Amino acid sequence: MKIRFVTRNKHKFVEVSKALQEYGIKVEQLCLDKLEIQAKSLSDVVRFSLVVLYNVVGEPLVVEDAGLFIEALKGFPGVFSSYVFKTIGVNGILKLMENVSNRKAMFKSVVGYIDDSQIALFEGIVEGIIAYEPRGNMGFGFDPIFIPNGSEKTFAEMSVDEKNKFSHRAKAFRKLASWLIQDKFKR
Ligand code: IMP
Repeated sequence: MKIRFVTRNKHKFVEVSKALQEYGIKVEQLCLDKLEIQAKSLSDVVRFSLVVLYNVVGEPLVVEDAGLFIEALKGFPGVFSSYVFKTIGVNGILKLMENVSNRKAMFKSVVGYIDDSQIALFEGIVEGIIAYEPRGNMGFGFDPIFIPNGSEKTFAEMSVDEKNKFSHRAKAFRKLASWLIQDKFKR
């Protein structure tokens, strides 16, 4: 089985390819723009992108949208994570978190699948804390400042396989994989 994953992010592509290996699912990267709307939830962004992209590609495909939600900042940057990363970045978030003792945060991923008869969404969450300074040089985005519960390392200090043991994205894609395998046998 194969899925078409629309993303320009090669880190996401590698993470997902590895996570789905154990299901025997191959991942093809489609480098198209996701056409993100500014919506209140990741699910709304994903639904909109799925419909627009399906009109262009005309084949079953998968889209993912993710964000970092920091408790002390009332969920910021959340759905604005991509913009916030490009503007104030990791150091900007650390600045906002100066003298903040509640470091709790979570990453959330919403994965969407579309084909000629259905849309299905799957969610993955990982809880953790925001580090006091960036650590590690692997991964992307806010990886250097996120420490998942159950580890001492930031995501940027982990190999892809290690990050996949904890990550929001691996969890959401594993749900998609199980569903796809069941769906295939139903048809
Ligand atoms: P996107 O719109 O799904 O690409 O994600 C929005 C932003 O959230 C990205 O630009 C990253 O800064 C951040 N992000 C999402 N997932 C991750 C992750 O697994 N690690 C680090 N940052 C992430």
